[in-house]
Amino acid sequence: MKNIPHDYYLRFLDGSVHDEVLDFHNKGNFTFHKSLENRTVLHFLDEKHLAQLTGNELVLYPDMNLTTGIDFLDEAPKSKLCRNESCEFFLSSGLKFSEVGSLIFPLLSRNGESYKRGYPSGGALYPVEVFICSLTDDNSQWPGAGKILHLLPKTKRFELLQVEHDVEKIKSAVLASPNNIGSPSLAIIYVVYMPKNLFKYRYRGYRMALMEVGSIYMLVELQAKSLGLACRLWSAYTDSMVCKVLGLNPALFFPMCVHFIGRKHEVN
Ligand SMILES: Cc1cc2nc3c(=O)[nH]c(=O)nc-3n(C[C@H](O)[C@H](O)[C@H](O)COP(=O)(O)O)c2cc1C
Repeated sequence: MKNIPHDYYLRFLDGSVHDEVLDFHNKGNFTFHKSLENRTVLHFLDEKHLAQLTGNELVLYPDMNLTTGIDFLDEAPKSKLCRNESCEFFLSSGLKFSEVGSLIFPLLSRNGESYKRGYPSGGALYPVEVFICSLTDDNSQWPGAGKILHLLPKTKRFELLQVEHDVEKIKSAVLASPNNIGSPSLAIIYVVYMPKNLFKYRYRGYRMALMEVGSIYMLVELQAKSLGLACRLWSAYTDSMVCKVLGLNPALFFPMCVHFIGRKHEVN
């Protein structure tokens, strides 16, 4: 049985590890809901202090001049591997289905026989599942028009989620917080399936899964740039609302991050 059903992992999961990781993870949850507007705050910092505290590099000895220049930078070839800055405002536009395929291409297995993928995974667990939702109704080229796609990186196929795809519901889940980012075309949702993540390395699995999400989204950022697409990562959503639109159990599937993809104005 090579393609095991996903709940088979539950047999090998230590319930107490799962409970503790779930408790910790839930402390990082945001609840975006009208009823809580103006009732909850994250901090009481003013703009001045926020500006002072963010965007910094951490100098360990700020009062001692213990730095040295990176002299060879001028001679270094301009690297093609630099990502673009995050998109501030997406224009309303659909993506061709072929562009979706190109975008996720770097994540796929290179060799059909190998379990390996375009990104590394601690212990070859591959606990991160990638879901792709169109945020426009203009997606007639999609297979199973309008379905949410679940990436199968080894077989290089998309599984069609058996849930209703209602663009407005998806948007209200992933864009629940007040925002001014325009209209992204796609939401890629990086979800960790915890039974697959914790059975082998226990608590340390959680750490490795987060790093795996980072390496996946960086590949997507670089590929998006090469395709002329714009991106913005997003964490301002409520996990349970995102799981609900994907039809996933929020105690087992943790949506770690959303990646918006679309187009923006060209700056000449
Ligand atoms: C994991 C992650 C989550 C993020 N979540 C949000 C978010 O919820 N809202 C937002 O406006 N930007 C979000 N960002 C974008 C950051 O604000 C942005 O990367 C940072 O300001 C640096 O700017 P740059 O990406 O243009 O270099 C997120 C970035 C990361 C890596």
